[in-house]
Amino acid sequence: MAASGIFVTGTGTEVGKTVVAAALAQTLVREGKRVAVFKPAVTGLEEEGEKDHELLRRAAGSGQSDAEIAPYRYDPPASPHLAAALAGEEIDPERLRAAASGAAAGADFLVCEGVGGLMVPLACRVGGDIRHQVATPYLVLDLAADLGYPLVVVGSPGLGTINHTLLTIAAAQAAGLEVALVVLTPWPEQPSEIERSNRETIAEFGAVRVETLPPIDLADPSGWPLLSPPDR
Ligand SMILES: Nc1ncnc2c1ncn2[C@@H]1O[C@H](COP(=O)(O)OP(=O)(O)OP(=O)(O)O)[C@@H](O)[C@H]1O
Ligand SMILES: [Mg+2]
Repeated sequence: MAASGIFVTGTGTEVGKTVVAAALAQTLVREGKRVAVFKPAVTGLEEEGEKDHELLRRAAGSGQSDAEIAPYRYDPPASPHLAAALAGEEIDPERLRAAASGAAAGADFLVCEGVGGLMVPLACRVGGDIRHQVATPYLVLDLAADLGYPLVVVGSPGLGTINHTLLTIAAAQAAGLEVALVVLTPWPEQPSEIERSNRETIAEFGAVRVETLPPIDLADPSGWPLLSPPDR
């Protein structure tokens, strides 16, 4: 495993995790670092547009294959545990940990992107004895804990973000994880009073550094603003 890394999660799906992870990776590349990227599962391959692993690879200037970045890849735009079930398989947490280690090998820094938010199930673990079987999910949160990197939480600038972001921080901290940075995206050129207040409120009550990312042209990483990862 790379000695340094981050795990980019978010308050939910489609909040800007990939964009923020890509901006962090690009910043590290400009510092001269060899950056590898990792995403446990990509779903929605059947949909139009650039996929998460493709943007991450481009931003990191990485030569990793699709399978090296994202060991599980599925066509339907479903939660990973459902997409896997629809394909007649299960996601194996051990394979995820091994794939993350493999991705990190030879890199200075590993940028991981989660799937959805922290409570998204990746797999189901069955424990107990034969008469009392207990099923517990293996969550994105559990993978983040297994990998051990500091968390970056991505959220929206607008109304509702205080609740979603503080809930995410609380869930992470309850599992013993360090939330090192919150990034609000896309941050408007002229933020409203609500947006400015949201940033300050999250920083104060989350006791965390809060950065912002303006709208960027995804096609041109060289023109992106710098977004530095937490102290590594
Ligand atoms: N700073 C930004 N500049 C340009 N586009 C942005 C920015 N922030 C968010 N977006 C847009 O918001 C949408 C969602 O972003 P993104 O794909 O990064 O979300 P995500 O959280 O990774 O989603 P998923 O849960 O599917 O992985 C995209 O269309 C993206 O282009
Ligand atoms: Mg994404």
